Amino acid sequence: MFDIRPTVSSRRIAVIGSGYVGLTLSASLALLGHEVECTDHSLERITQLAQGQLPIVEEGVAEVVGQMLAAGRLRFASDNGLAAERADFVFLCLPTPMGADGWADLSFVQKVAAEIGPRLRPGATVITKSTVPVGTGEMVRDTLARDDVQVASNPEFLAEGSALRDCLHPDRIVVGASSEAVARNVADLYGPFAHSRLILTDIPSAELIKYASNAYLAVRLTFVNSMAEICETTGADIRSVVAGMGSDHRIGKAFLRPGPGWGGSCFPKDTEALVRTAGSLGCDLSLVETAIAANARHTQRVVNKVAAIVDGQVAGKRIAVWGLTFKAGTDDRRQSPALEIARQLVALGASVHAYDPTVPAGIVQGLEVHSSAISACRDADALIVGTEWAEFRSVDLAVLGAVMSRRVILDTRNVLDPGAAVSEGFTYAGIGIPTQAPAEQDAGVAV
Ligand code: UGA
Repeated sequence: MFDIRPTVSSRRIAVIGSGYVGLTLSASLALLGHEVECTDHSLERITQLAQGQLPIVEEGVAEVVGQMLAAGRLRFASDNGLAAERADFVFLCLPTPMGADGWADLSFVQKVAAEIGPRLRPGATVITKSTVPVGTGEMVRDTLARDDVQVASNPEFLAEGSALRDCLHPDRIVVGASSEAVARNVADLYGPFAHSRLILTDIPSAELIKYASNAYLAVRLTFVNSMAEICETTGADIRSVVAGMGSDHRIGKAFLRPGPGWGGSCFPKDTEALVRTAGSLGCDLSLVETAIAANARHTQRVVNKVAAIVDGQVAGKRIAVWGLTFKAGTDDRRQSPALEIARQLVALGASVHAYDPTVPAGIVQGLEVHSSAISACRDADALIVGTEWAEFRSVDLAVLGAVMSRRVILDTRNVLDPGAAVSEGFTYAGIGIPTQAPAEQDAGVAV
């Protein structure tokens, strides 16, 4: 059970959109003591949610949703206008996907703003939580067409897999508004604990803080993956390199893990959108453009590494892939590097057998998905670890070796123990670490 922490005063809040952000925010605000109505245009989703069934995998959220439904502090509905009529604060938690031209598609935000504008009560505050380009706050204000309501920006920084923790214990709460009083009213919703972490600013700055943060993190990861490539060609070990880098307090240890490339529903679309914004303003953001291109090349390099560990020829090989989501702790496969690698292997003629704890057995995009990590590896010529699910670390390597046709692992997350793998007779390759093979085998395969 989670502690119910009533805020100074309970407010009526509408949260429009029940995705990862809207759902986690609704659960968190209810937990903090508010009366929350969360809406979604999908009736099916709302019906499920009202019964406490979650359409997403996100640790702790189902538990809080159930608790708050039972306490009567959270409900789900499909009528945005009605929810807006009842609320003092309306959060817009709507998708802003990448449009065909790379810009953020703001049509959901615009449509909902037009829908709720006439229904808002005087004095209400509409808060944009979705990641939106600089200037969107103005668009929302214009679309609402109401002089008697306030507009604010309060970007969300939660990451999937740790959404509830990030929402309840954020590093910072950013609120942009045209006056400090409006910004403080929004900040007060998060309770007294928020005040030490508050950044009050104007709306464009709040909007840009979100893009700047995501783009900075994406560039950082591309830098690490590039260092990993240098490690592979020089015999250095990326684990030591990032440990050394991260010990500098100005750099810090977080977000320095090499991998198969960054993905997910946020970094790819947000980096593209920021590049478009910069371009339209005549500003140079070639650094981020380069990172986007380098990230795609890095994932391609991982596919080439797979080819190298299966004797240069992927076609006709049976390859096991562990993990299809874009990272562990989520069922989200949007822009997943693991899935992209698996797809490319299928396109190259491999027979790909996958396992992911969040994906039921069956056929997914040309891959045969199995119900266990071991069954996916039966008769496999190589195993690719694509996502860092904790359960992969506890797989019995002796059992794994016995079912595989060849004992070869490419661990794109560096999560398995290379020494243990080698003692079970595996050739083990990771990202940015020296390839290791049992003494009697030829470890000279260049991967
Ligand atoms: C990201 C940001 O981290 C959140 O702060 C932000 O709120 C969110 O986007 C958003 O805009 O909504 P998320 O996409 O859930 O969160 O995932 P991250 O944990 O940031 O991971 C992004 C990608 O980087 C994944 O592919 C992950 O595997 C990769 N990654 C992350 C690494 O390869 N190495 C790392 O050390 C960290």
